[in-house]
Amino acid sequence: GDNILHIAQTHDVEMEGACEGSCACSTCHIIIEDEKMYDKIPEADDDENDMLDLAFGLKETSRLGCQIV
Ligand code: FES
Repeated sequence: GDNILHIAQTHDVEMEGACEGSCACSTCHIIIEDEKMYDKIPEADDDENDMLDLAFGLKETSRLGCQIV
């Protein structure tokens, strides 16, 4: 699918994704600076939240890039 990770990679944006989008790492952790933007994105599911708990520098508006569609 065209999640943010995939879109970033196809546009030569530096974004890691060690597990290639299978929600098994937290290297694609992003922090969404714009709260309005954050609110528009479908909420994280339990798998994503579990992984986010392991992410470095977790913020209120953290997400896993590969899980945003
Ligand atoms: Fe591993 Fe997103 S690339 S969780």
